[in-house]
Amino acid sequence: MLYSEKVMDHFRNPRNVGEIADADGVGEVGNAKCGDIMRMYIKVDKKTMVITDAKFMTFGCGSAIATSSIATEMIINKPISEALQLSNKAVVEALDGLPAHKVHCSVLAEEAVKAAVKDFYDKNGISYNEECLKSGECPCVH
Ligand code: FES
Repeated sequence: MLYSEKVMDHFRNPRNVGEIADADGVGEVGNAKCGDIMRMYIKVDKKTMVITDAKFMTFGCGSAIATSSIATEMIINKPISEALQLSNKAVVEALDGLPAHKVHCSVLAEEAVKAAVKDFYDKNGISYNEECLKSGECPCVH
């Protein structure tokens, strides 16, 4: 079987689909090659810096939908510092793997979370280390 049960489950019944009208941060990323677009919305408790809600809209392939779905589950109720450590590798592992040619779809999920956090930081005048918001393993010790 090409796709794991988990991928199929999150593709067929994606969690946290939609928009958050009064989101604290919105991140939109795309992949120029395939043209897929992912938008991530987050609500943040400004006292604790915990992500209290996340929703996504993905115009893309099934793997992009499954990765964004599981990524929202992985960041809800987590402090921002932990959400920033969410790597595309962790997303793929949580889905019990993706075919090699679909791994790039999971990169969108990682980037979308980071873009939403960046938007939240920018809107609230919070300074941050650019390195932490780039895709790939964060070099910082949180
Ligand atoms: Fe483009 Fe999956 S093929 S994100």
